[in-house]
Amino acid sequence: MLATPSLTELRQHVAQARAKGLKVGLVPTMGALHAGHRSLVETCRSECGFVVATIFVNPTQFGPNEDFTRYPRTLEADLEMCRAAGADLVFHPETASVYPEGFSTYVDVEGITARLEGESRPGHFRGVATVVLKLFNMAQADVAYFGQKDYQQQLLIRTMCRDLDVPIEIRTCPTIREPDGLALSSRNRYLSPAERAKALSLSKALRMAERLLQAGEKNVSAVRAAMMAVLEEPTGVRVDYASVSDPHTLAELTTPQPEMVALVAARVGTTRLIDNLWISIP
Ligand code: PAF
Repeated sequence: MLATPSLTELRQHVAQARAKGLKVGLVPTMGALHAGHRSLVETCRSECGFVVATIFVNPTQFGPNEDFTRYPRTLEADLEMCRAAGADLVFHPETASVYPEGFSTYVDVEGITARLEGESRPGHFRGVATVVLKLFNMAQADVAYFGQKDYQQQLLIRTMCRDLDVPIEIRTCPTIREPDGLALSSRNRYLSPAERAKALSLSKALRMAERLLQAGEKNVSAVRAAMMAVLEEPTGVRVDYASVSDPHTLAELTTPQPEMVALVAARVGTTRLIDNLWISIP
């Protein structure tokens, strides 16, 4: 496996793979890799002839009071995980080469980003869309892999690719969870043992929504209220949102429909966590 900060090298290796007729897969990450990322690289490996992972903590997707400076940077361990998962190349560019002096072009995906994470984290999705489009242009892959954990993110990336005719296939892979239900996240490592126990309220709230809706609850406001109650049960959990939305438009629902997505965001201590669950009514 080659690890390089050089765009020229990335392009050379991708061009060579392409010349051999290999399908090129891309797994964009911000590092601090966990088993969720590993499964993305492994899925990419199983579907593509040449596997590129990127590691870049993207400054433009963090707000001024967010955790950009303390975001975990664990390059050596990340490279080891990528190697073990079957990556052929890891691209880890310097910030100055992604955002050179005078950088002034950003991508804004409207509509789908208005609510939820977009509302709680102004500017976040502009930074995500911009860096993801740049990474797509840099790697020129055939297919890119994202986790369902960042549900709104993968929707906005799909929307961006459709709207701007970006020639890449987007694959969304299932959220990987701890045995007790906690969704894997690079930010889980900020949690103390007591906070980690409280963080379970996110996945429990989603399961509660699923149970109620699958049992025939017709009042979606009541479902949201039940989610809030579960989320707020442990002290020290501050809820940002609890939502039952259309899975394609992210419009908030008033009545149940056959396919829905429940989404939650909450601060546990100083750590902001998100989670979601696709809910089908049989
Ligand atoms: O999901 C992430 O890790 C990041 O938002 C991404 C897609 C790598 C862009 O920086």
